[in-house]
Amino acid sequence: MSRAADLPVLAKNSMRMPAFPADGSPTVFDLRVNRRDSIPMYVQIADGLKSLLQSGALAPGSVIPPERVLCDHFGVSRMTLRAAYDVLEREGLIECDRGRGTFVSLNQKPRQYQQLRSFTEEILMRGETPSSKLLSCGLAEPTPEAAKFLGLSSGEQVYRVQRVRLSNAVPLAIELIQLPSRMVPRLDQFDLGSLSLYALLEREYRIEVDSCVEEISAARPKPIHRKLLDVMPSGAILIIKRKVHTQDGQPVELAISDYRADLYTAIFHSTRAKRT
Ligand code: GLP
Repeated sequence: MSRAADLPVLAKNSMRMPAFPADGSPTVFDLRVNRRDSIPMYVQIADGLKSLLQSGALAPGSVIPPERVLCDHFGVSRMTLRAAYDVLEREGLIECDRGRGTFVSLNQKPRQYQQLRSFTEEILMRGETPSSKLLSCGLAEPTPEAAKFLGLSSGEQVYRVQRVRLSNAVPLAIELIQLPSRMVPRLDQFDLGSLSLYALLEREYRIEVDSCVEEISAARPKPIHRKLLDVMPSGAILIIKRKVHTQDGQPVELAISDYRADLYTAIFHSTRAKRT
């Protein structure tokens, strides 16, 4: 959230003047969202606003119409609209000020931005309801890749958790995660069928996940995908392997998430670095 002092001067004077250009160029009210699109609605809204910004139809300093008006227009919740604003704000394209509204930045500075989210956070951000079905949770030998990434000494165990992750009660992914047991002692006392792992790590173990590298690949469905994700044999699976570090640089999680490719789109927000 910007401090009032950071707001563009023009914005202060245009509080009552939303961005309705008199020259007939498109406005935010020409934007639409497609609920059946696999691209989340907040991304569609952010992309639409971005195209208006880039074409100049939303001029620097102009006011974006009030949240409730846009929520009605797009038929989305405030949370979804704010998720779209969050993308644009972090890219330095707009500035939000509680009580005064949302403005197109005068001084647009693109920033590199990609936020590390939990499944729960991501699904809520997409305006849907997350849930999980716990398949297993217990101590196990690490896979060779997990032992290597997590830096485990010989004989050290991991907690191995397998869950089906659902969005609006539809199975979206099968997730298999491994965490060093010494970092999360007695993890199995918690019900990961109803709790967010990342919230649990912070609350119970004071572990803050900080950064990750993700590898994305695709595969044909195996019998387990057909059974638990209801994928057709001709369908595809999107595999996201996430390697996570804590704030103090310790490797904490190796996760492999197998998504139904027809229901899930991986989204990346990237900005081109300035050439010097
Ligand atoms: C994503 C990540 C996983 C992580 C999970 C935590 O799905 N790919 O690596 O374990 O989020 O989600 P939650 O906190 O909702 O349990």
